[in-house]
Amino acid sequence: MEGVRGSPASHIEAVRSIEGFVAEHLPSLLRPVHDSWQPSDFLPDSAQPGWFAQLSDLREKAAALPDDLLVVLVGDMVTEEALPTYQTWINRLAGITDQTGASDTPWARWSRGWTAEENRHGDLLNRYLYLCGRVDMRAVEVTVHHLLRRGFDPKTDNDPYHGFIYTAFQERATKISHRNVGTLAKKAGEDCLHKICGFIAGDESRHEQAYKLFMQKIFEIDPREAICAFAAMMKRRIIMPAVLMRDAVEENLFVQFSRVAQRTGVYTARDYADIIENLVECWKVPALTGLSDLAAEAQDYLCTLSARFRALGERVVAGEPAHFSWIYGRSVP
Ligand SMILES: [Fe+2]
Ligand SMILES: [Fe+2]
Repeated sequence: MEGVRGSPASHIEAVRSIEGFVAEHLPSLLRPVHDSWQPSDFLPDSAQPGWFAQLSDLREKAAALPDDLLVVLVGDMVTEEALPTYQTWINRLAGITDQTGASDTPWARWSRGWTAEENRHGDLLNRYLYLCGRVDMRAVEVTVHHLLRRGFDPKTDNDPYHGFIYTAFQERATKISHRNVGTLAKKAGEDCLHKICGFIAGDESRHEQAYKLFMQKIFEIDPREAICAFAAMMKRRIIMPAVLMRDAVEENLFVQFSRVAQRTGVYTARDYADIIENLVECWKVPALTGLSDLAAEAQDYLCTLSARFRALGERVVAGEPAHFSWIYGRSVP
């Protein structure tokens, strides 16, 4: 039976009741395949005669990428490559499950369409990293293998409200991260990687809009439960999808990776606070009225949350320079 783990029947009812709304918006939320970019569009075509020249050009530019940028790029790629975990998770959200695997419901079409678009991100970054010749691909692959085996629990209890809040947050976070990696690549003179990150960030942005829209509709029809779900997710903290990453030697690889992300400005504590603020505004949380006591409490909590995170400031985590197998054991300060 659906919704067995902590997902109130009313949430399942609500997401089913907006199926028509989702169907109506699907054409603008997902790009048609014929109109979509593919990883091959950005990389040298190995079937063409100019392939070697294009490849050496790519490798020459990639030679300028600094180690800390390579580390955040690999971390982002590993995160994208764990897509099977995310599709499995989305498919556990009660009320939006793709019951057959090829179901024609709007929710099933959305989740498969989302997966198909996301699948290009890992493919493209993986292929770029392979061609650029700057990273130990086997060590990277071992990390992906471990991460898929270990899985990921975003603490959403298979509740669709929690799920949409999580993904709205997470898509925005990945957009920020890819965009910042692209900016660093441009600074290093690597236009091709800059372009790649820009296109991936564009997808993340459209997906962010989609999950925000779904949740906005939930806020319209079920504001009390929606706001309580939002507060509950924020109290749990948004866990990054690659939190269980490890490689052959380092058990806490994610901690080391996120320190580099923080230090390079690719994804920081400030971004976390900004995303909360953005979602609070998007769902017009401060303006909601007629709330129950519990929901009003959630509203108070949410309206001051980003400011409280900002007041904590950037947590500078001091530590030994980390050695990354991805870059042949070199250390990043
Ligand atoms: Fe992605
Ligand atoms: Fe995404």
